[in-house]
Formats: sequence, C-alpha cells, structure tokens
Amino acid sequence: PLDVIDPDSEWECTVEAPVNIALVKYWGKKDEKLILPYNDSISLTLDETVLGTRTTVSYSATYEEDCLVLNGEEQKISSRLENVIEEIRRAFRKHAVRNKMNAQNLMIMTRFRFRIVTENKMPTAAGLASSASGMACITFALCTALGIAESVDMSRLARLGSGSACRSIYGGLVQWEAGKEEDGSDSVAKQIYPAHAWPELRVLVLVVNGEKKKIGSTKGMQMSIETSDFMISRPKQCKDRIQEVCWAFQAKHFPALGEVIMKDSNTLHAICRDTLPPVNYLNETSEVLIEFVHDLNSIIGEVSVAYTFDAGPNCFLVFQEKHEHLLKWILSQTFLDSNGLLNTDKPKFDNDENLYADLIKQYQSKNYKVIKDFYCTEVGSGPKVVKNPTII
Ligand code: DP6
Repeated sequence: PLDVIDPDSEWECTVEAPVNIALVKYWGKKDEKLILPYNDSISLTLDETVLGTRTTVSYSATYEEDCLVLNGEEQKISSRLENVIEEIRRAFRKHAVRNKMNAQNLMIMTRFRFRIVTENKMPTAAGLASSASGMACITFALCTALGIAESVDMSRLARLGSGSACRSIYGGLVQWEAGKEEDGSDSVAKQIYPAHAWPELRVLVLVVNGEKKKIGSTKGMQMSIETSDFMISRPKQCKDRIQEVCWAFQAKHFPALGEVIMKDSNTLHAICRDTLPPVNYLNETSEVLIEFVHDLNSIIGEVSVAYTFDAGPNCFLVFQEKHEHLLKWILSQTFLDSNGLLNTDKPKFDNDENLYADLIKQYQSKNYKVIKDFYCTEVGSGPKVVKNPTII
C-alpha cells in the first residue's frame, strides 16, 4: 500500500520463538564478532509454548532511543544485540529500496526506535538455552515490525546475537552450516525436516539444579579452541554425525538417532574436560542420569531414550511417544523429588516387569530424588506471530 504512515503513530507487535536443543553441538568460533562457527551443527526446535520466549516490540519514529526490558527489568543493550538491531535496520533499507518503497514512509520507518519487552516462558534461573530463543525472538519481532520477516534470512541476523539462536528461526530438524564466506553471508540455518516429519518424537527436559556456571559457553568454547587437541578432528566428525542424524530421521530409526545424540553430547563434554584449564558443565546428578539412561536402554533391549547436555547440568532426554509413559513413571520413582508431580499410573510393560522394578530400586537407593522441575515437549514448528503490527 502506498499510503503514507503517520509519523507520530506508535505501533506494536508480539511474537514467540522456541528453544532448540543441539543433537550435534556447536562449539567454537572462527570469528568472534560475526559469530562464525568452527563446525556445522544440527538441532531440534522445541515447542515454543512450553520452552520459548515472547517478545513485544512497540515502535515509533517519535521514540528517542531503543530500549530493552528483559523479564521485567530494564537492561543495557549489549553490543551483540546492538549489532543485530543495526543489521536489521540495514536489511530493511536494502529491502525498501529494492521494493521502491515510497520515500516518505522509508524516512519514517528508518527513524523507528524500538522498545523491546521480552520474557522467557520458563524460569531464567533454570538456565535453559534462553539466549537462543531470546535472540531469535527479538530478531523475529523486529523483522515483523519492519515487514521484512518473509524477505530476509533471519537466521543470519539472529546468529549475530548468539550462535545457537540462528537455529531457533526454523521448526523441526535444523542444520546450521558453518559456511565458507569471510563475511558470514553463508553461515545460516536451514530446515532439514519439518516438525511433522517425525511427530512421535518427544523431548523431556530435567532441570538439574546446580550452582551458576562459572564459565559461560562463549568463554568455554573460546578456551577449547585455544587448548583442546580434540577440536582438530571436530569439523569432519560433525559433518559425518549430521549425515547420520539426517539418515536416522529419514528412516525414523530411533536407535541410530539416539546413539549419535549421546555420542555427540559425550564428545562435547570430553572436549570441555580436555580444555585447559578443564571445564566441567555436568554435575553428579547429570552423571547418574547418563548411567540411568544406559541401564534403561539395556532393559528395553535397544536405544530408546537418549540424553544430551549443553553447557550446563540440565538433562535433555529424547525419545518416542511410545516410551513416554514408561519413562515418566520410572523417573517419578527415582529422580523427581515431589511425589505425584507427574501423576502417572503404572504403565504396561513390553518385557519383564521385575527388571524395571530392580532398576527403580537400584536408583532409589542412590538417593537422587533431586529434580524439581521438568518440561515435556514435542518438536515445534518455529517462531509464531502472536499479534501482527497494529497501531496503539
Ligand atoms: C553448548 O549459542 O550460547 O549450547 O554463540 O557465544 O552466544 P554464543 O554461544 P551459544 O552456544 C551454545 C553452545 C551449546 C551447543 C549448541 O547449542 O549447539
């Protein structure tokens, strides 16, 4: 529409973006400023209504400056976020010129300043990948505000805020290609399979309480690049593993998928231990959960549940719907601290019930009923517009 917009009007839009969990992990950068990764990675996007971020931006040419309110508190805009906003403004100008936008509107819109109000759906204290959904959500909100969400590569823009955020721009199974260009123009995320390609997949996140991590992922990966020899073979290893993940997805072969997921999580944490000084993101509870998953799989007779851990002790369990009841029931007896939290009845067993009873007894005796919070989600289909740009 060629209508001229009122320069004094104020607008608002609201969007949501999901958390993603990497199956083959991103760890290390070739370029710190452009956030160019050392290796390719692949992830599952989770359901944004369970694990995600909601952002409302109000904007107007009458506002004096950009501002950010994160979980109810006004924050200074970080240099990374500043880069994201700057790049979005640049992308908008390019788009406007290419589409011969009327000059008056272009003038008004380039003067837009944003009030960004962003809130995580899960408690931030839980330390769940909130930077990925957060940066993806702000990127999507600003692009929606400027009407360019459909015509720019938002994954490239979100990447400048936090590497893993670029994968939260799409739903389903998403690959982030490291790319070859020095300016990062080909370091973008792509959807490999949509969420409905494997609708039976589930992710259960167990919030393992621990002290706040001493070394964040940005710093940790920088140290690994400088000191861990394991990093040398990492790019090739990731390429191979990503191929296996894609193959397992295509064939819907859970044991193959689960094995790669667990191996790659273990590799990430081995790299961290090989870093100088060593970094340890897992705690005792995480280690016991790893042992538990292997014990459970051996009773079931094949890999049916897989664990994966990012730069923290929280455990992400990936499995299929057919094992959801069994898994929740066993966890409620062993790791979940308040009884009835999951409210599950005893499931039906495919094989000898006594084996599960023994497993439960074994883990009950370890006294690991320490997990208070959990989230169970399906694979999500990506960011959503909650409220289209409207004059307020
Ligand atoms: C372990 O995306 O948080 O979660 O790019 O420095 O912001 P920056 O790092 P970030 O790193 C996440 C690393 C990881 C693995 C992954 O998500 O692939």
